[in-house]
Amino acid sequence: MKLKHKGLTIGLILILIVSVLSGCTSKTKVEVQQQEEVPSTEKVVYNTALHANGENGAVSSGRVEATEVGLEVLKAGGNAIDAAVATSFAIQFFEIESTGIAGGGFMLIHDAKSGEDVVIDMRETAPAATTPDMFLNTDVLDTNGDGEVDYYEANYHPLAIGVPGNVAGLELALNTYGTMSMQEIMDIVCAKAEQGIYVTNKVESAIAECYGYIQNYEASKELLLNDLGLPYVEGDIIYNPDLIETYQKIAKHGSEIFYKGELAQKMVDEIQKQGGILTMEDLVNYEATIIEPSTGTYRGYKIVSSPPPSSGGTHIIQGLNILENFDLKAMGHRSVDEFFLLQEIGKYLYTDRAKYMADTLFVDVPLKGLTSKAYAKSIADKIDLNKADNEVTAGMPADYEAVDTTHLSVIDKDGNMVSYTNTVNNYLGNAMVIPGTGIIMNNELTDFDFSNLDSINAPKPGMRPLSSMSPTFVFTPEGEPLMSLGTPGGYTIFFTVLQNIINVIDHGMDVNTAINIERCSYHPAGAYYGEEFYLYIEPKDDETSIDEKILEELRARGQIVASKHDYYGSTNAVYRDTKGFHAVADRRRDSHAGAY
Ligand code: GLY
Repeated sequence: MKLKHKGLTIGLILILIVSVLSGCTSKTKVEVQQQEEVPSTEKVVYNTALHANGENGAVSSGRVEATEVGLEVLKAGGNAIDAAVATSFAIQFFEIESTGIAGGGFMLIHDAKSGEDVVIDMRETAPAATTPDMFLNTDVLDTNGDGEVDYYEANYHPLAIGVPGNVAGLELALNTYGTMSMQEIMDIVCAKAEQGIYVTNKVESAIAECYGYIQNYEASKELLLNDLGLPYVEGDIIYNPDLIETYQKIAKHGSEIFYKGELAQKMVDEIQKQGGILTMEDLVNYEATIIEPSTGTYRGYKIVSSPPPSSGGTHIIQGLNILENFDLKAMGHRSVDEFFLLQEIGKYLYTDRAKYMADTLFVDVPLKGLTSKAYAKSIADKIDLNKADNEVTAGMPADYEAVDTTHLSVIDKDGNMVSYTNTVNNYLGNAMVIPGTGIIMNNELTDFDFSNLDSINAPKPGMRPLSSMSPTFVFTPEGEPLMSLGTPGGYTIFFTVLQNIINVIDHGMDVNTAINIERCSYHPAGAYYGEEFYLYIEPKDDETSIDEKILEELRARGQIVASKHDYYGSTNAVYRDTKGFHAVADRRRDSHAGAY
């Protein structure tokens, strides 16, 4: 993929109208006038590769620069964990719209020598002053005065900031499973960061969409708008020297400076000044932990993925268990029967998720039942391939997750693997930059069911909001690693990973095709996404819709379906076979695959 350098259009006055309907925008319409001509002098291109092969290792991530950093670490003798930590800090610098060090995530690690798989849970937590009803307080949060608090008002309020987990989690990963020092890692990341962030079309859209919220904070304006106070556009370069300095401080002092020292104090001061509730005590008390993954099997292949507080791994295993009762190969990829079956299964997965899933340190989740083959069989028995069951979703609470986030996968010469999904939640998180640090805060607390006090996932102090992030490994029936994969996409994440897996196992596709071929996404009913659940089917690039006959047939069986070009997810995968090491990136975002 090549993105042309646009710079700022010569001789034009740009009227940018940021619409409230278009995503993470403020409720007021904002008009921006570009007053000056700024000719572009330098031609810069952003080149990505969707597939790379090598003899020693492979990295796939959401940005070229981050993949290059990971490869550099592997070439310097680092193992997959060293490379993944470096790629992570790089992605948290370069994929500025999707993640950051003040976010959180789940890192799945495979140790080739011991065969052990572990998850580092670095999900954000709710501050101690969190109350279940804090997002319902219209006095504080009703920014447009309509007597209600909506998703965007909550998302871009400082109350939505959770205690960040990435810095503690990455340090834990490096100290426990890596071989290099934080200083060695950061030196490689910071050297790359000096070149600045090339603004892709995706970065441009994210900044434009959040323009109204960026206006709330001086430091956000300084970082994310150009000298004219306008959103950066594709081809521009964003420099973030404050974040480079922050990275060097973390290299020198460790995570302590982020959770107890100068950086902690700066975050607390700014967040409290803006009306948030995060305290020094919340940061001091934050802990990343090593936990056991969710595991299951699918047609003899072993599936290893994220456990709660992510719902992702559990529902991938549940979905695959249900699918095991059907002959997908005979149905055919993108057949009416397969689409129909995926939507029916989606109804069960998302209904169970809403009812049962939350942080297991706070609530009991019937994990054994959700991942049991017998439970899956009981669901499979209820599915009639000729008639949709539209009662499955009855009583499902609104689902409010953002679809941003990022994923990276790494494999080294010894077969160690990492799969890491991380996020600040929405595009540009909370849109709040902490002055003097280059750090953008998350808004992860809106992954709680913040508008429903009866929900199992209602906010509580110290609790981790429910996630869908699904870093996943698949092993062959003989126990050999088949692939490490994962994707962004909020609540659609596990539905995407599930399709990537069946494309390989049932439809015999190579990993590149399995990831890049058109797919579908299930959308549960909810106030934000619409009153009804539905299945979106991605058409081919040169088509506006899939075959009308397929849609008609699905509707005739009672399903709600639509075909449109909105994409959900962007998978990054690595694997090893007899020909060597391979990285695969998804064409849907700015991702890059590298190997050597
Ligand atoms: N914020 C997206 C997720 O946690 O799944």
